[in-house]
Amino acid sequence: MELFEAIQTRRAVRNYLPDPVPEDEIKKILDAANWAPSAMNRQQWEFIVVTGKETIRQMGVSFGAVIEELTRNLPASSGHGSLSREEFIRFAKTYGGAPVVIVILTDRADTGDFRRANLESASAAMENLLLAATALGLGTCWMTGPLRDEKALRKILAIPDDRELVAVTPLGYPAEVPPAPARIDPELRQKVRWVG
Ligand SMILES: Cc1cc2nc3c(=O)[nH]c(=O)nc-3n(C[C@H](O)[C@H](O)[C@H](O)COP(=O)(O)O)c2cc1C
Repeated sequence: MELFEAIQTRRAVRNYLPDPVPEDEIKKILDAANWAPSAMNRQQWEFIVVTGKETIRQMGVSFGAVIEELTRNLPASSGHGSLSREEFIRFAKTYGGAPVVIVILTDRADTGDFRRANLESASAAMENLLLAATALGLGTCWMTGPLRDEKALRKILAIPDDRELVAVTPLGYPAEVPPAPARIDPELRQKVRWVG
């Protein structure tokens, strides 16, 4: 798939087929992530690739309970964007049925400047990962919601304290691809200022 097509067709997929993802495809995606630019070329990202059904189940039980509690007082119709509360909780509990979940980590930093550099570098890797997955016909969903359940995630995945959690994404073949959300400023009239 051509790069600009991958950029435009990548969607936050929240419903997956149970079909396994071949390991060489996962490695190709991680290799693309590993080629991201990074502050001071420190390549300060790490990936935890979770393929065990039981581990993903444990992650979902814990995160689902957090989301259930957080959304307790919301009306049933409001969850996350176009998702109802029930759909949003189901997504949290199952990661959409994805056979793989990837957790992106970076080095923990003591100062604001370093923290920002680390998070931005890992985010660049994350975007590469999502685009590479799209190019291979796979779905992903950049998620920071699971960070609300950080303590449990750290325990389940044995993540050491010197690593900061950046994001999580399910990975799998999409059962359903949501429509592309409209651009707020498609003509880039407000978001861009050209200086001659
Ligand atoms: C930093 C970041 C955090 C996000 N966290 C979540 C999340 O926790 N749960 C979720 O369902 N989607 C999450 N999303 C996905 C966005 O909701 C999604 O990208 C947005 O609605 C636009 O849809 P699109 O990705 O299909 O273009 C996140 C996206 C980003 C960039």
